[in-house]
Amino acid sequence: MCGIVGYVGSGAPSARPEGVVMAGLARLEYRGYDSAGLAIVTDDTTHVDMAKKAGKLVNLGKELAEHPLRSGTAAIGHTRWATHGAPTDVNAHPHLAADGRIAIIHNGIIENYSPLRAELRAEGVQFLSETDTEVVGHLLAREVLAGHDLVHAMRLVAARLEGAFTLLAVDSHEPRVVVGARRNSPLVVGLGEGENFLGSDVVAFIEHTRTALELGQDEVVVITPEGVEVTDYAGNPIEREPYRIDWDSEAAQKGGFSTFMDKEIHDQPTAVADTLRGRIDEHGKLKLDEGVVADQVLNSIDKIIVIACGTAAYAGMVARYAIEHWTRIPVEVELAHEFRYRDPVVNVRTLVVAMSQSGETMDTIMALRHAQQQGAPVISIVNAQGSTIARESDAVLYTRAGPEIAVASTKAFLAQITAAYLLGIYLAELRGNKFPDEIRTLLSQLDEMPAKLQRVLDTAEPVRELARSLVNDRSVLFLGRHVGYPVALEGALKLKEIAYIHAEGFAAGELKHGPIALIDEGQPVFIILPSPKGRESLHSKVISNVQEVRARGARTFVIAEEGDTEAAEHAEQVFYVPASPVLMSPLLTVVPLQIFAHELASAKGYDVDQPRNLAKSVTVE
Ligand code: F6R
Repeated sequence: MCGIVGYVGSGAPSARPEGVVMAGLARLEYRGYDSAGLAIVTDDTTHVDMAKKAGKLVNLGKELAEHPLRSGTAAIGHTRWATHGAPTDVNAHPHLAADGRIAIIHNGIIENYSPLRAELRAEGVQFLSETDTEVVGHLLAREVLAGHDLVHAMRLVAARLEGAFTLLAVDSHEPRVVVGARRNSPLVVGLGEGENFLGSDVVAFIEHTRTALELGQDEVVVITPEGVEVTDYAGNPIEREPYRIDWDSEAAQKGGFSTFMDKEIHDQPTAVADTLRGRIDEHGKLKLDEGVVADQVLNSIDKIIVIACGTAAYAGMVARYAIEHWTRIPVEVELAHEFRYRDPVVNVRTLVVAMSQSGETMDTIMALRHAQQQGAPVISIVNAQGSTIARESDAVLYTRAGPEIAVASTKAFLAQITAAYLLGIYLAELRGNKFPDEIRTLLSQLDEMPAKLQRVLDTAEPVRELARSLVNDRSVLFLGRHVGYPVALEGALKLKEIAYIHAEGFAAGELKHGPIALIDEGQPVFIILPSPKGRESLHSKVISNVQEVRARGARTFVIAEEGDTEAAEHAEQVFYVPASPVLMSPLLTVVPLQIFAHELASAKGYDVDQPRNLAKSVTVE
């Protein structure tokens, strides 16, 4: 996830393009902040002016103060959340082509960049960066040098790309034009007077105009000071109705949601889809983002230990069920802060998987180092590119959830589970536990999850209503079994963290061994009910648990699979989620619990994004 801004104005070359783009980038920094850059089209037709710097936007600001760019008519700017290549000055966007005539910025992932790069290399093109983006610049250059104008070139190039992208480009020969294209990644147009804007999000230009139009899938837009033209990739004109933005700029930064947490909950279909995108090559091999653990080593491991803390550890618990089932390798999940103090049995045949959103959790870093001292290979599943855990691991599989700003983790949790599934599928394939057709089935089942997640989000209003009605309750319990157990733990953690309500998650089978004593008249209990299909005995056992707590006065709120006709007989209220393979169901069943916690905390008037006593990144042991 990166932030993108484009601007074109009618004044003579002026400072406005740079000012507009820098202000837009500042507002888009929530989308990524590991490097930033901008390109300005001046009245010099030989090349565009460009500056870019690793680190936060402030570094780019300093660079511009020390080495000012010339005034211009159009500009594009980018704030990066790295996916291909480390966050360095060179990998920062824009990328130049045709000797600096063309500049390009990109949000997303070009899945077929490898063959395209090979094609360009064969023509003698030299690449400066490790990014997938640079290929697009050179492809555009090829078309422009062949005589096409920039918008035509963009149509031709976009049609050849696979994956997810928002692209903006400028050409020093067309100083009053910015061209954009999109697929599976957002791009919004801002309509001004004698000037027009582009942004990943309206927040990029909301201080200049509140009239916008949204670009559809596979469309190309060209903005000039006089107007905006939208076409499909074949050049057929497309009519798009402008709309009025009624958010204020603060809300706009949160994409119109009241809190970052709410926004991040709604980002989850994209976070899962992005984490899946382009991971498995044509031979079914998992593409790790950085480093390697040789297949030979992975073939010889006899145990996996996941080390993580908090929500990330619950993601590890979910993954354990899947990885063990698919690979038949025993998986342990250990809280990182407990790991090294129990003298764990770890050796060269133990694959350690470190999971962390921030990549900076000190407990996890210390556990990782301990594992490496014992000779264990370490693969990390990390969200923050270039973080300590990513750097110190032997290999990294990045989750692509984008920056998570709310302290309570939501989209990173789903992305961690997704990445761990990919690792499990990869190991199953490598070690011959699954046939290729079984692997394909698992991958296509995973591909269906983002759309199912969207359905959960679209039908969540009853959960919010329930949360508002429980605002004065002092305790909520959560029960789950099998993969529903870590979901119950996560549901309870979310409620504790942001609503400051006593909440406990239990393994449903454990209830009768003690916790049932807590049940009293009116006690709210959430139960994650397993699918009635496949594991019928588990379904009926958890139904029995629902009855047991209900008989003792509990109010029972059940998360069940669509089509589970029995659920409603035993519950005060049922929240249905789409049917999915059992092992993947936590990606859906946890979402109503996140929404419940968010709504209850909001109803109590708490600061949902920055709950008391907590920090986003826990860098002390
Ligand atoms: C809970 C939460 C924490 C983190 C934990 C690990 O909402 O965010 O429990 O999951 O502190 O953090 P990372 O994943 O950054 O290592």
